[in-house]
Amino acid sequence: MNNLKVVIGSDHGGFRYKQRIIEYLKEKNIDYIDVGTDSEASCDYPPIAQKTAEKIIKGEAEKGILICGTGIGMSIAANKIKGIRAAHCTDTFSARASRAHNDSNILCLGERITGESIALEIVDIWLNSNFEGGRHQRRVDMIE
Ligand code: RB5
Repeated sequence: MNNLKVVIGSDHGGFRYKQRIIEYLKEKNIDYIDVGTDSEASCDYPPIAQKTAEKIIKGEAEKGILICGTGIGMSIAANKIKGIRAAHCTDTFSARASRAHNDSNILCLGERITGESIALEIVDIWLNSNFEGGRHQRRVDMIE
């Protein structure tokens, strides 16, 4: 996992979790790009989702993590970008399945709905789960 580069972004509603997840990435020696926001001051989530998604599409990072209040706005915005498969996860089963079956390349979390410990567990499982390919590849190809 050492070559992995993760791009991470949030709006004000997800700022605290973004900082916490960055600590986790540092602990695990995972390289990351922080695209903001830089404080809990109110800001718009769509440009942050776009910036994050574009880093993945351009190959500057392999995976992304986006956090807002619910995780919903970030996932809607990120999924507008071709090639992005953003998974809004509130549980570890979905996090693993979104990698194994959907080859999700962005994980979206909601700071106002998912407890911190579960959110960190979701991040850990999502980053450590692999795409299974096979019949799932065919389905992902259909989406693309
Ligand atoms: C901001 O108040 C909130 O709307 C945003 O963080 C997010 O939950 C949107 O989906």
